Amino acid sequence: LPLVLGLLVAAYLIGSIPTALWVGRAFFGLDIREHGSGNSGATNTFRVLGKKPGSFVMAIDVLKGWAATSLATVMLNQGAILPQQLLYFQLACGVLAVVGHIYPIWAGFRGGKGVATVLGMMLAIAPATVGVCILVFITVLLISRYVSLSSMTAGATFALLQLLPGFRPDNSLLLWFGFVLAALLVYTHRANIGRLRAGTESRVPMPWDRK
Ligand code: G3P
Repeated sequence: LPLVLGLLVAAYLIGSIPTALWVGRAFFGLDIREHGSGNSGATNTFRVLGKKPGSFVMAIDVLKGWAATSLATVMLNQGAILPQQLLYFQLACGVLAVVGHIYPIWAGFRGGKGVATVLGMMLAIAPATVGVCILVFITVLLISRYVSLSSMTAGATFALLQLLPGFRPDNSLLLWFGFVLAALLVYTHRANIGRLRAGTESRVPMPWDRK
């Protein structure tokens, strides 16, 4: 039990690492939360600081979700949980990392929207399903140019795919979590939804756009 509790706390602390905030402060001397959309995430790092820092933040934030979720495997290997409990603890560790990303203890509880960390978490749990969601994300992004809309659509796709036979039909838990995470992404994007409705949400420029 102490090992399980310790690793659950570790999952939250890993998720709490405020990558975008620290990269902005360390290499650019600015608080990313005061620029662009004001979000401490990969998208806003791309927007405000450029491709290299954006890719780095993206990679680390995905890695946080993946690493935290993998702590459940450590619990299993140490004999602290049973094989049939693995998915429960993967989901618990992953969600704690996502909560850490959104409400980071290292950054005054003002974090990001959880997209990259959910991605990392689900890559560890259901990689094939995530592959479909990434294709949906890219398609919506190319058509709409809105990262926020693409993120929410990809989250909803993950949940809806769980309804199809062939995608984890044996485990209804993942279905419920899919919907909880999709709802969480809508909640963290509430300011974006307001901007989308008002027509003021920022669009991603594409290289082939006419100037
Ligand atoms: O990564 C979060 C994304 O979906 C929206 O970010 O900065 O456009 O609010 P942002």
